[in-house]
Amino acid sequence: MNQKRRLIGRRSFLFGLGSLATMSAVATSKAAYQNQQIQALDNPNRNFIISEGLSLKERAAKKGIIYGAAAHNIALSSDASYAAAIVQNCGVLVPELEFKWTAGNATLRPSPDRFDFSKADWMANFAKTHSLLLRAHTLVWHDSLPTWFDKTVNSHNAAQLLENHIQTVVKRYAGKIHSWDVVNEAIQPEDGRNDGLRMTSWLKVLGQNYIDLAFRLTAAADPKALLVYNDFGLDYDTPDQEARRTAVLKLLERLRTKGTPIHALGIQAHLSPGEKKFNPSKLRKFLQDVASMGLKIMITEMDVVDKKLPIDVKVRDRIIAGVYEDYLSTVLDEKAVIAVITWGLSDRYSYVNESQPRSDRAPVRPLPLDAQMQHKLAWNAIARAFDHAPKRN
Ligand code: G3I
Repeated sequence: MNQKRRLIGRRSFLFGLGSLATMSAVATSKAAYQNQQIQALDNPNRNFIISEGLSLKERAAKKGIIYGAAAHNIALSSDASYAAAIVQNCGVLVPELEFKWTAGNATLRPSPDRFDFSKADWMANFAKTHSLLLRAHTLVWHDSLPTWFDKTVNSHNAAQLLENHIQTVVKRYAGKIHSWDVVNEAIQPEDGRNDGLRMTSWLKVLGQNYIDLAFRLTAAADPKALLVYNDFGLDYDTPDQEARRTAVLKLLERLRTKGTPIHALGIQAHLSPGEKKFNPSKLRKFLQDVASMGLKIMITEMDVVDKKLPIDVKVRDRIIAGVYEDYLSTVLDEKAVIAVITWGLSDRYSYVNESQPRSDRAPVRPLPLDAQMQHKLAWNAIARAFDHAPKRN
């Protein structure tokens, strides 16, 4: 018996060693693949020369495109240099926290029967004072919901709550909003449903029609705003992102067939060089498919996550700039793309600092301005993409 146990123990030890060796071989080959990708992205001879003078919003506007950034009240109210950079560069402002149900210091929905518009109003006033368009994000999302939500909401009261939320919030800002992200991140093929929808609290209580309902309520409350479905993970040539693109197209088709008042797709474009393969022709085809449904397209949350890139700032900035220009020159060729928004403007306030830090703890550099509000090569790259984009009619 003891002898048998010893043999089994020895066997599983050897098996364990074998699978450890396989795992480390996979990790090594993944790391080698990533290194190769990164080396291929770095071209020391690539230039990011631009003509001097114009800001990003001006270069975009010359082509009929809107450029802007997300920002939150915490940074804008306390940092004059950041506020000035936003005003100088942006044609549109996206409140990063303030129109969500609850996020950071902003809680629009403190309880089921109360609204607190103080932070959202502050952002709307900032936009108005500085003549920026205002893009609101977001009415229906599985994230950033208050803790009372899951305890209170059920299939009997959910439609009423959604209607009350949309009517109250959307009507308050009606006529002042360029575009609303009505529904955010509703696709998740991994959740195993045939329609590719994410299993969210909203889906559980309202069924798949919650998306159509949200768009109809929003259109009724603000007939002027552009109504957007917004999602991430649509950029790269990987099986999971292919599945996400397919599911998004199916969702858009279903909505169009039903006559849902949807006007645009928001592609977040949180890019991660070195991790996944970029294939311009696949992306172009996806954009054409969306455009052929009569929808506009907005790049809504662009940044370049530099977690896997070399620590050397010169090399890192050059790769990041290349990623910006390659991506934007591809998408801006499609005239249905009407706006480019970066998720922040300066590295000082990027959410990547908290959510995707580097393992070496070096400060991240995902945005067009550095932490001192100086232009980086990424700024030039975005400028070049606007300068070379075809003019919208
Ligand atoms: O303000 C508090 C601060 O007082 C506190 O000390 C700190 C501790 O965690 O939290 C701060 O608030 C955070 C806030 O960001 C401001 O930094 C919240 O915890 C955090 O949840 C919040 O995260 C936001 C996140 O959405 C969730 O709402 C990010 O800023 C925002 O960039 C991110 O944006 C999302 C888009 O909405 C949808 N697409 C993905 C994108 C990135 O995750």
